[in-house]
Amino acid sequence: MKVYKVLKLNHLIKSHRIKFLGLWFLNMANKRTIAVFLDPVLACNFRCKMCNFSNDSYVKEKMKGILKEEDLEQIAMASFKNALKLQIGCAAEPTLFNHNKKLIEIAKRYKVPHISMVTNGNLLTNESIVDYVNAGLNEFIISVHGVTKKTYENFMERGSFDLFHQTLALISEQKKSNPKLLLRINYTFNEDNFYELTDLFTSYKDYAIDVIQLRPIDKVGEGTVYNNYSLKKIEIDYKTISNKLKIEAEKSAITLIYPSSISRNEQQTSIVATANNSNYLMPFVFCYISPRFYWKEGFDYKNETFLEWKKRTGWNKVLFKNIFTSKNKLGSMNRNILNYSIDVN
Ligand SMILES: C[S@@+](CC[C@H](N)C(=O)[O-])C[C@H]1O[C@@H](n2cnc3c(N)ncnc32)[C@H](O)[C@@H]1O
Repeated sequence: MKVYKVLKLNHLIKSHRIKFLGLWFLNMANKRTIAVFLDPVLACNFRCKMCNFSNDSYVKEKMKGILKEEDLEQIAMASFKNALKLQIGCAAEPTLFNHNKKLIEIAKRYKVPHISMVTNGNLLTNESIVDYVNAGLNEFIISVHGVTKKTYENFMERGSFDLFHQTLALISEQKKSNPKLLLRINYTFNEDNFYELTDLFTSYKDYAIDVIQLRPIDKVGEGTVYNNYSLKKIEIDYKTISNKLKIEAEKSAITLIYPSSISRNEQQTSIVATANNSNYLMPFVFCYISPRFYWKEGFDYKNETFLEWKKRTGWNKVLFKNIFTSKNKLGSMNRNILNYSIDVN
């Protein structure tokens, strides 16, 4: 649960200047400052309607590539020493990759404090769950877009609601022998699947869930099959329902991650009206890696480490300057990724 406490602390510190001061200090000391989000394979077995994978031309053009097993060590060497967490899977489906166990073992060797996997869960088997957990995986994050079978299979095309439940049961069983293993649910909501959330706790009462994230639909790209990004119709009910869920979560000792408000400028759906400044840190802590990309343009992971790159690019100076930069100037990067309230129960 440590990683959720760090997130909560980050959320509680409101001043972006203090956040950058802390980040600068940690970078100067070459500590762990980044969260690595790694897509080992750019493919998916689902075609979720809210996701880019529902856009055929996007998939054909952009979703190609798979990491080579022999590249894993080098990928790790460049940045895992500085990683606070590794999340396997980000924009694509990680269970299609055959070397996750090895990847987890390598991350463990680099003492990455929190290793999670985000997945639709349909391809997980008891064997792979045991393998990943024994290798050192700390958390499974299972994505879901509907509480009922009808909504789940409508929004998560090619997905099986029964397999989803089977996976929750297998992980819950695994937690009996590994109580520290975390099970998290990511519920992405829109105007059409939102009200089902009122049945969330009764539907999942048999599973050992530790964390639930409520994710408002975001405009991830053009051309997704479901493209109603407006949340206007549910804005008022959101307060009531999320408050009820918060009470339920408290009763069940579940950590609830949710935005305190979903009001946003509908003309710019990715920008959220918020007083929190966590998202200003995103470009400086969010490290995305895929077969096509590594951290920042020009970062050559085969020939340099994160520390060498920081020295080469004057990274620490940029962080130091940001302590004195106004929110307005930093604001162009402002996205809603970290604007969540976190109730650690
Ligand atoms: C794109 S998926 C990729 C990882 C994996 N295939 C999975 O299903 O978890 C990553 C997360 O984004 C969520 N997601 C999908 N479409 C979204 C959207 N339009 N807005 C916000 N989150 C979305 C998914 O529910 C999932 O939790």
